[in-house]
Amino acid sequence: MALNDLFYQFRNRLLGSARFRRIAQKIPLIHRLANREAVALFRVFSGYVHSQVMLACVRLGLIEMLRDGPLDVPDIATRAGTPVERTRHLLHAAAALEILERRPDGKFGLGRLGASMIDNPSVVAMVEHHAIFYEDLVDPVPLIRGTQTETKMSRLWPYATSAGPEALESADVTNYTAFMAASQAMVAEQVLEAFSFRDCRRLLDIGGGAGAFVIAVATQWKHIHATVADLPAVAEIATQAIAAADLGDRLTAVSADATSDELPGGFDVVSLVRVLHDHDDDKVLDLLRTARSAMADDGVLLVAEPMADARVAGPLIDAYFQLYLLAMGSGRPRTTDELSTLFDEAGFGAPRHHQTSVPLITSVLSAAPK
Ligand SMILES: C[S@@+](CC[C@H](N)C(=O)[O-])C[C@H]1O[C@@H](n2cnc3c(N)ncnc32)[C@H](O)[C@@H]1O
Repeated sequence: MALNDLFYQFRNRLLGSARFRRIAQKIPLIHRLANREAVALFRVFSGYVHSQVMLACVRLGLIEMLRDGPLDVPDIATRAGTPVERTRHLLHAAAALEILERRPDGKFGLGRLGASMIDNPSVVAMVEHHAIFYEDLVDPVPLIRGTQTETKMSRLWPYATSAGPEALESADVTNYTAFMAASQAMVAEQVLEAFSFRDCRRLLDIGGGAGAFVIAVATQWKHIHATVADLPAVAEIATQAIAAADLGDRLTAVSADATSDELPGGFDVVSLVRVLHDHDDDKVLDLLRTARSAMADDGVLLVAEPMADARVAGPLIDAYFQLYLLAMGSGRPRTTDELSTLFDEAGFGAPRHHQTSVPLITSVLSAAPK
């Protein structure tokens, strides 16, 4: 047996022994290890409470309310329309999580996390939409067994389970498209920082939603002409957004099922931003082949999404998206190696990794056709 396996078995036998845990608590040095494991375990099983504390802060408007400075508890309760003593429970919980902070004078203001949510509509939109996701997770076992496939998440993201996504109507796509547009700014910022569009004249963004990504790129790089390709009802929304941004002379939207329809060709860069992780491997291959055929021979594929092996953030991304995408009905978070294998199969060479400053938001890979 490999040394690694021996250590693994030894560690789990120790941690799995109630007797060892009792003894360990009494031994100096080792008791720290026991305490660390107990804290880590508690952190995981109380995670739902943490997210609900954050949801309550958002829904009661505490983040906005405290943006100009700390307030005392009765004042916060009056503004939130909640009883003082109950509000105090929330404020203490939120302060323990550093969403809020209890000041020396007893008032509550924003904590480190709450302050980072100011003017950050992406995070606020994410927190709000978790209410739907968590409804699907009330009992996670049917989801894992596959006996609960009619989920709230599959209704929010109907293309994930639809046999004919092109037929989706405006009412089916409006909610997720608005949510994606609200959270796109932080993604575009990461991609633009990691990847230079200097040599790109024509960009195609497959699954580009309401066009927020191409609008961000075209705003920074004035020489670029870009096309968004998305399902018909989404492409309509993108057309309106492009007109509203007054970029109709350089940007356009086309409607397509990018897993089967042919797209216009000759693009220098073809991007898939937060698209591949939504799909199972067969559809990912279809999307990559569509990207390949829409690309000039010296073109570049650009893939941006949270990846399961991202620096520091990988385990958080993996745990979150494994369940998120299961509830949605298709896809999985992938590592760079898993994506490389799919790139290879679809006709692309080995990808280059472009470092982003917050890989939790997105990692960025590019690849050239083989
Ligand atoms: C998670 S959203 C990402 C949107 C956008 N790229 C962003 O990051 O904000 C995935 C997008 O892929 C689009 N999509 C899904 N299946 C598609 C298909 N078969 N053909 C074209 N677009 C598709 C969806 O309509 C949606 O706009």
